[in-house]
Order: sequence, then structure tokens, then C-alpha cells
Amino acid sequence: MGHRIPLSRPYFDARELEAVRRVLESGWVVQGPEVEAFEAEIARLHQVRHCIAVSSGTAALHLSYLAAEIAPGDALFIPSFAWPSAANMAKMVGAHPVFVDVLPDTYNIDPDDLERHIETCLNEGKHKPRAVVPVHEFGLAADMDKVLSVASRYSLEVIEDAACALGASCDGKPVGTFGKSGIFSFHPRKSITTGEGGAIVTNDADMADRCRAWRNHGQRLAGGQRDFILPGLNYRMTEIQAAIGRVQLTKFAGILQKRRSLVREYFERLQQCPGLRLPTDTAQHTWQTMMVVLADSVDRTAIIQHLAGEGIEVGPGSVAGHLGAHFQPQLPLTVSEKLHRRGLALPLHAGLNVEQIDAAVESLCRHLDRCKESSISRQDLSQASPRTS
Ligand SMILES: Cc1ncc(COP(=O)(O)O)c(C=O)c1O
Repeated sequence: MGHRIPLSRPYFDARELEAVRRVLESGWVVQGPEVEAFEAEIARLHQVRHCIAVSSGTAALHLSYLAAEIAPGDALFIPSFAWPSAANMAKMVGAHPVFVDVLPDTYNIDPDDLERHIETCLNEGKHKPRAVVPVHEFGLAADMDKVLSVASRYSLEVIEDAACALGASCDGKPVGTFGKSGIFSFHPRKSITTGEGGAIVTNDADMADRCRAWRNHGQRLAGGQRDFILPGLNYRMTEIQAAIGRVQLTKFAGILQKRRSLVREYFERLQQCPGLRLPTDTAQHTWQTMMVVLADSVDRTAIIQHLAGEGIEVGPGSVAGHLGAHFQPQLPLTVSEKLHRRGLALPLHAGLNVEQIDAAVESLCRHLDRCKESSISRQDLSQASPRTS
């Protein structure tokens, strides 16, 4: 709020306002024809048979686990460096989240570490390895070839957390379509938004049926008959959200193109910036977040404050979920912890322009230079200080 250059901003115009007006005037605001049309559009985009729209990405994860009958005693393998919804929802269904480390430049699940954790889990014998939940972090597809091969070797289900990655693909196949099911989020930090919102995609008709029942108080409607088949929730998306989402979908290709071109501008300028490491850049990346990694000598909090003082909003990229208090105790996961401490997300949204990127990079590089100087002078001071022996 109040930044000249915000980290993120939804990309709305008069068309969303008009869509909301149309829904309000219709008098029908709970799940109805707009939600059905939104689901059909998301399913078409992914070439899948079923899409179930819900109230958030977290709700989509919860329903995916419930519908896949993930149960107490099951272990779910989840990358640590990601928003902790996938691990939180594992606990909500009584399952055991096993945190796996990520790779330093893609920020995605490390398939070798995944295999190590599955082996440890099997050796300990306390939980049954049941599913892997790869996260396509910040819009970059995880290495699905390797993840699927590990999953099939150990007969694990694959439930993809593609919350940040609508439109991303791996070898030409859209994320969310590799395993039993995949989920998306339409939170305002994502490339398209419905305010809050989420969706599940799947080709499994039983899974889709159970998700629909879990979403809507456990009801199944068939042949005009209503039956309560399970102890369901209310995770429905509203018509207002779906109508906004449908307009956002019409802009989606343009939004992706804009985000990719802005990231090109960042890459060109940041090559010269001292003291930071850039992420993996591929043509399929959808860039929900542009996160760089600061050198250990840089004080991240000071950088965030300095830039905020100039009206530029930057912030920590994401979190190492395994550090969360309710997951303790945990063994260290070096890469995730480093990204948790050193990650810095830069402003990125479809309304951003090149002049704003110039300003953000100029300010960042200037403050990084200052940090370098002050860390060198601190070193000089400590070297100059008298020894005590
Ligand atoms: C990787 C990941 N999974 C799940 C979620 C949860 O989505 P939502 O905020 O829509 O509940 C997020 C949200 O930031 C996310 O980044």
C-alpha cells in the first residue's frame, strides 16, 4: 500500500467492473453459470476433462487430498521452499508432511533429495509414502520427468501445486496435468486473479465427483435427487469471482507476454548488479514472482527498508515451510533455508513499465554497493581491532 512502485498489482479495467455489474444485476451470486463457464475455460486451456473452481488455492489443495483419500499415517513429500499451504493441508487431513529441499536456481523440488526422503521414510516405517506434491514455484515447472520417475518407482500419487504457475508447461505439457490432479490459485499476487479463488484440474472422473461433493456440503445431485454422501465443506467460488476470472482469462496471454518482457528487462539490467544471484530463465517460465538471491554479506532487511524509503516495494520471496513452528522439530534443509533468508522479490506485474524497472534496479544496485562498502569497512574494522593475546 502506498508505494510508488508496488511489488504486485492486479490488472483490472472497465471490463471486470462491467462483468461484476452484470452478475449483481442478475441477482444470482453464488456458484452458478459463471462458475461453470469459468471451469470449462480453465479445463479447455489445460485440455483436461474436469475443472472444479473453489474459494482459494488452499481450499483446492484440501479438497484434492480429501478426494484422493489421503489419510492419517500417509506421508506426503513436499518441497520446503514454498508457501506452506500444501504442508498445512497435509496436516489438516491428518497426514505427515515430509519436507524436501529445493534446487538453488530453479527453487523447485530436488528429485535426488525427494528420493532420499522417501527411502528414509520407508526405513523408519512410521508413515506410508503416499504422494508427492511438486510445487511449480513462482511459475517455473518442476522437473516433472524426474519427479514422475521417482513417483512411479515408489508407487506414489502426484498432486501438483501449480498455485503460481497457470500457463507454465514442462516439455510442452501444461503444469497441473501430469499427475492425479493439479491446483491453481487466483489470489491477487498471481498473474490472473478472482480476488481470492482456486481451481482443481483432473482427468479422473471419480476424483472430480468427490471434489465437487466435498466443495458443496457433501452433496451429490443426480437425476434431480440430492444426496449427502460425505461430511463436506463450503469451498464454492461465487459468480462475482468467476465473472472477474473470465475477463482475466481473456487478457491472460497478453499478461504473460508482458511479464516475460519485463523480466527480460530485469535480466539485462541486473547482470551488472553486485552481490546477487539470478534465477533460472527459460521460455516456459510464467514469472509469477521475480526473486533474486542476495549474497550473505548483504543485510536484506536494510535493503527492503532503503527501497521502501524511495517508494519501491521489494520483499522476501517465499518461506522455507519446514521452519514453521507447528512443523517442529525438523532437520535442516540448506538450500530452502538460504532462499528463505536471502531471497528478494522485485516488483513485477502487468501494469509495470520499463522506467519503473530502471528506477527499481538503480535503487537496488546503489544500496547493494553501499552494503558492500559497509561490510568491507566492518571487515577492515574487525581486522584492525587489537587482538586480546
Ligand atoms: C505454492 C502455493 N501454494 C498454495 C498457495 C495458496 O493459494 P491461496 O492463497 O489461493 O490459498 C499459494 C499462495 O500463495 C502458493 O504460492
